[in-house]
Amino acid sequence: MEMNIALLPGDGIGPEVIQQAVKVVKAVGEKFGHKIHFEEAAVGATAIDQVGNPYPDATHEVCLRNDAVLFGAIGDPKYDNDPKAKIRPEQGLLEMRKKLGLFANVRPTFTFPSLLHKSPLKRDRIEGTDFVFLRELTGGIYFGEPRGRNEQGTKAFDTNVYSKEEISRLAIMGFEFAMKRRKLLTCVDKANVLATSRLWRETVQELAPNYPDVKVEYEFVDAVAMRLIQWPKAYDVLITENLFGDILTDEASVISGSMGLMPSASLGTDNKLFEPIHGSYPQATGKNIANPLATVLSAAMMFEYAFGLDAEAKVISDVVNLSLEKGVVTEDIADGGKAYGTSEVGDWLAENV
Ligand code: IPM
Ligand code: MN
Repeated sequence: MEMNIALLPGDGIGPEVIQQAVKVVKAVGEKFGHKIHFEEAAVGATAIDQVGNPYPDATHEVCLRNDAVLFGAIGDPKYDNDPKAKIRPEQGLLEMRKKLGLFANVRPTFTFPSLLHKSPLKRDRIEGTDFVFLRELTGGIYFGEPRGRNEQGTKAFDTNVYSKEEISRLAIMGFEFAMKRRKLLTCVDKANVLATSRLWRETVQELAPNYPDVKVEYEFVDAVAMRLIQWPKAYDVLITENLFGDILTDEASVISGSMGLMPSASLGTDNKLFEPIHGSYPQATGKNIANPLATVLSAAMMFEYAFGLDAEAKVISDVVNLSLEKGVVTEDIADGGKAYGTSEVGDWLAENV
């Protein structure tokens, strides 16, 4: 197969982890006889430095003309403590999601047998955990208008707004995921307080009869925050709005032992983007210590979701598991044993594909 991939390394550790994913993707391409082309473009603080725009038109063009986007991370501390900054790297990420129509962010949580002891949770709670969040990604309070300040600058406001159409396209994807999995769908909302959440619930209730095999549960977001830690095995597919999904998926990611492990896919009707769920991790930038596995596993999701190449995806997840078993890992999960560098882990994975 001919595969065209846009590479957006971004900021912080983004470039380092993307480099490792590229090694692995190339190795898989050789093994299976695929022709893989990469086209790189700037995004985030890097793009602000280069052209003054965190998501330049040229980058958007690159995303549009390739089959899939592999993305590293966005964010730079120089903007974090400057609430007055006019242009922020994160705006680039939001604009990219919006312009590419990436309305569903698929964030799985699963455990790795050899890392169960790394989890902050007890083994019997997490062994066998396997759920996936579908976070709505282009609506809600992240994008709602009006937003900003009053004239005096003494009040600030954001607007949470959802249309039925935005909710139902995400919910339908949730039902379809559930059909392929354990057939349990949890709608996470705050319907006891928020009008938007009541529309979520109503929309999901209307769709449910189309999927008689799927059991649907409705849970408040605060309760889910608690239950995810108490009994993560209770969940299969969870659907939720943008902000709740942002928060809960960070919480979920540490169940497996390190945030450096969890991949994600952002899917739209026409475009697909794959990215690790960790951020730009500025403290580790350039030190060759960042864990590349989340990005490598995001590349596995790319083979599966963008190209329908499940066997290729499996080869990647297998080699990742092998590296964990053999202890070819970065310091965040080395557990006092030998810690390998980011690029050494990448090399090892590519060689063992
Ligand atoms: C994420 C990130 C982003 C978000 C930030 C960087 C804007 O936290 O992808 O989860 O809030 O969506
Ligand atoms: Mn987040």
